[in-house]
Amino acid sequence: MSSRIIISSNRSLPSRLTQSRKLISTSGVSSPARKAFISSTTTSSASTAFAQQPQQPTSDEMPIAIKTAAQWAEFGRDHVCHGLGRLRDHVVVKGDGLDLYTADGKKLLDFTAGIGVTNLGHCHPHVSRAAAEQVNSLVHLQCSIAFHAPYLQLIDRLLPAMPHESLDQFFFWNSGSEAIEAAIKLARQATGRQNMIVFSGAYHGRTMGSGALTRSKPIYTQGTGPLMPGVFSSAFPYWHQLGVAPSTSEEELVRLAEHQLDLILRQQVNPKDVAAIFIEPVQGEGGYVPAPPAFLRHLRDVCDKHGILLVIDEVQSGFFRTGSYFAIEQLVPELRPDVLVFAKGVANGFPISGIASNKELMGKLDVGSMGGTYSGNAVACAAGIAAQEVYQTGEIGQNVEVRSKQLYKVLNGLAQGEKTKHLIAQVRGMGLMASIEFRNTADPCTLEGVPAGTAIPQNIGKRVQQYCIDHDLLVLTTSCFDTIRFIPALTVNEEQMDRAMRIFTEAVENVAREG
Ligand SMILES: Cc1ncc(COP(=O)(O)O)c(C=O)c1O
Repeated sequence: MSSRIIISSNRSLPSRLTQSRKLISTSGVSSPARKAFISSTTTSSASTAFAQQPQQPTSDEMPIAIKTAAQWAEFGRDHVCHGLGRLRDHVVVKGDGLDLYTADGKKLLDFTAGIGVTNLGHCHPHVSRAAAEQVNSLVHLQCSIAFHAPYLQLIDRLLPAMPHESLDQFFFWNSGSEAIEAAIKLARQATGRQNMIVFSGAYHGRTMGSGALTRSKPIYTQGTGPLMPGVFSSAFPYWHQLGVAPSTSEEELVRLAEHQLDLILRQQVNPKDVAAIFIEPVQGEGGYVPAPPAFLRHLRDVCDKHGILLVIDEVQSGFFRTGSYFAIEQLVPELRPDVLVFAKGVANGFPISGIASNKELMGKLDVGSMGGTYSGNAVACAAGIAAQEVYQTGEIGQNVEVRSKQLYKVLNGLAQGEKTKHLIAQVRGMGLMASIEFRNTADPCTLEGVPAGTAIPQNIGKRVQQYCIDHDLLVLTTSCFDTIRFIPALTVNEEQMDRAMRIFTEAVENVAREG
């Protein structure tokens, strides 16, 4: 394993290029990160260079300046697209289960799992091994040239996992947004209609089509319009979206949301012009809000009545995140999606996404209308097959059940505790897709039940998150409301959950104390 990036003929390279090829020192990389990284089988030269001492150069190698972790971070701030937000400027060199190791020797407990991607933990050995083996047999075969074996084997593995037996044809792409684009294309081609209905708080991606369906925050598309036209947004049955109190009954939330949808179909768009209704069964970027089963049933009825397709977006909620393969299995076991969209957890970090639909609908697509250079990449498919093998042992689902009880016990304890209850508006979620929403004086709905005159601290979520990160626990916020979400790898063990909950509890109590 070389610790150097070797430039063979320096003299012929432009100076700008030789300047950018640097040897990287581990001075500043303390032992846990180094040791862990060295024991890994990864041989990527750039990352390896973080972990090894540079050797003396030979005459045909060019030693160039050394960068510390801080300098790499500075380099990143300089050269990585400014439009990309970041929680922290850590330079991560290794992931192992729920642990992340940084170039400057920190070990972080990762409760973000790449935003619900590494469901089996970083570098799950079975998945990584399968990908490594695939690399030596076939890396890429463009999907319009021929079938390749991992593509077909992944479908074979996914078929029995589908939440409805009608979902028997697949198209793979790379990201969740692309899979949403595929669903839009399928919906338009199959129905001959153009319009889509989505829900307030929805997140379906950032591309021009998927971004048009996104309604959780303006930042994802602001300044980039006009987006895809013909998208109508109705209220998700979540108290914020309906301007009611958190204690509003599920029945009432459903009634109000159904009423809003009915108005849209009577006042704004004729149902016969609607191609599809898109919904996340558990809204992700909208605040980790599960859809009430009655609402999902109602959508199925509306779709059946008007020939509209029901597209279920399980990009974030799929692959045991909520305790079952797909969230809709728990919410409405008999629900038949016309299209299921998946990504993230399918290959535990290897980029692959997809849609599943039925033969009749897929049969309406023009041959050649679907495709993409990397879609269904062989290495990602091999990783996906291995991930399904792990999911299908049943152990992951069992772990989610036990560990989510441990998690909700702490969150509910905080929501009821004398010291902290005036900070918390709601605890919600399914399985290990959980969130806690804090009260916000600017948002009167969240102040339900607080005795008059109680002082509510400002920016609770941000302050809690800051404390957690300062104590080496990575957690994310979600939505435009003051909410922290928990999405650890589904392999999280008792000690890790306990440690995370201790830090989180201290964080909330700290804000309560400071006021
Ligand atoms: C429900 C949902 N749909 C679609 C997407 C878009 O996926 P990607 O970021 O891979 O494009 C996301 C991403 O977070 C998501 O949560």
